[in-house]
Amino acid sequence: MLKIDIKNVLAEKAELVNEKLESLLAQWTGIPKRLADAIKYVLAAPGKRIRAALVLLTCELVCDEANQDALTGAAAIEMMHTYSLVHDDLPAMDDDDFRRGRPSCHKAFDEATAILAGDALLTMAFEIIAKNISSPQKAVEMAQTLAQAAGPAGMIAGQMDDIIAENSKQNAHKLEFIHINKTAKMFQASACLGAIAACANKEQKESLSQFGLNLGLAFQVADDILDVVSDTKTLGKTAGKDAVQGKTTYPAIFGLDESRKKAQKMVLAAVDNLSTFGDKAQVLKSLAYEIIDRTK
Ligand code: IPE
Ligand code: IPE
Ligand code: MG
Ligand code: MG
Ligand code: MG
Repeated sequence: MLKIDIKNVLAEKAELVNEKLESLLAQWTGIPKRLADAIKYVLAAPGKRIRAALVLLTCELVCDEANQDALTGAAAIEMMHTYSLVHDDLPAMDDDDFRRGRPSCHKAFDEATAILAGDALLTMAFEIIAKNISSPQKAVEMAQTLAQAAGPAGMIAGQMDDIIAENSKQNAHKLEFIHINKTAKMFQASACLGAIAACANKEQKESLSQFGLNLGLAFQVADDILDVVSDTKTLGKTAGKDAVQGKTTYPAIFGLDESRKKAQKMVLAAVDNLSTFGDKAQVLKSLAYEIIDRTK
């Protein structure tokens, strides 16, 4: 079987998404200059665009091409994710001065501007879905998927408990709850957005939804591990912060070796979720392994 160069695939997808984000921003009128500058600053920063790539690749798997609806979904998830990072870095949250290799938004601008840029990105994600998705039914399904994943019983729930759990002893159950909510559900939504864009059937949607969830959980475990073993320059964000802030992480509860084993198991579960797609799922399988092999 042909060996897939997943890094190259991801670089190609990132380029497509970057172009889309740029053109969406360029067409957006009426944004005050300081706010527009902050939005541009955070969106143009070199993020990995993994969630966006997941939207495109899941669409490709089902209907053989990443169509315009998938590209809109990819831009929307990247806007939503970028907002979550801007707010995650605020002094009242993780208090992180460095993101994507640059000063965090509140450092480059100020706290009020960072809060408002985050608010703007969150809202813009829904506007582009409402405006650009090809059918009202698909648009509603995509908006609902995104809202559920990012909302108060999703990413925000995870972020709330992540903050509450700081500097206190937590069990594996709470740890899993935090990670599923703050991160895995956004990956699940990404896979589902691609499935919706591709008009996937119920069985395909269910498989991709489970795949996204397992993949997202593995992604956050890898993030926790990298925080311990990597350095700030490589990560483009402050390394070693989780222990200092008493965060509830996989390495904190299970240690590094056990965390790596667990991440591996999660990836195997994710790969297993793709079995209905047969050989066609080779690219997504490579992506799953890349999630835990990555260095940043
Ligand atoms: C960081 O996500 C936040 C987590 C959920 C761990 P990424 O590692 O995907 O960040 P970017 O988008 O590449 O900067
Ligand atoms: C953040 O988790 C998850 C989000 C919803 C943004 P982390 O706090 O671990 O992400 P990093 O390490 O700052 O990127
Ligand atoms: Mg955080
Ligand atoms: Mg953080
Ligand atoms: Mg982290």
